[in-house]
Amino acid sequence: MVYKVVKYGDPVLETPAAPVENFGTEELRQLVEDMFETMYASRGIGLAAPQIGISKRLAVVDTSAGEDTEMRRVLINPEITFREGKEVDEEGCLSIPGFRENVTRAKAIVVKGQDVFGNPVEIPAEDLMARAFQHEIDHLDGVLFLRHLSPLKRDVIRRKIRKLQQAGEWE
Ligand code: NI
Repeated sequence: MVYKVVKYGDPVLETPAAPVENFGTEELRQLVEDMFETMYASRGIGLAAPQIGISKRLAVVDTSAGEDTEMRRVLINPEITFREGKEVDEEGCLSIPGFRENVTRAKAIVVKGQDVFGNPVEIPAEDLMARAFQHEIDHLDGVLFLRHLSPLKRDVIRRKIRKLQQAGEWE
């Protein structure tokens, strides 16, 4: 099932999410599938559960955008345990459509988390995948990429979004 992606302005996006506690359930497996489906339908490369209104520490990433099933990654209760280097690149967010800005991220990271059965996993990532992981893990902490911009840039975007909201073009 394809969920509606929540847009900037909804408090769920700025609320730290709760850990996933029930593993190995049909419900969790289905949620992961639905998140991939929703992400592909939105043409994104990452989606965090708060973006579909579910405040849980769960995110999916596929930097091939559905071209290669080997590129699917599921992050459950993820923590970044290693960071190396810096890289600046343009970033967007399905919850802030139409806005893309340069964001500095670590170039390479290692994430520790759990799989859908609760087994510990360690996932290394670099470049685009590392960027997507950092962006999605931020979502789980209630942090949007706007937080990484200068106050000036952030205000310009917030003002544009407010206008869209007032015009009823941001729902
Ligand atoms: Ni996002």
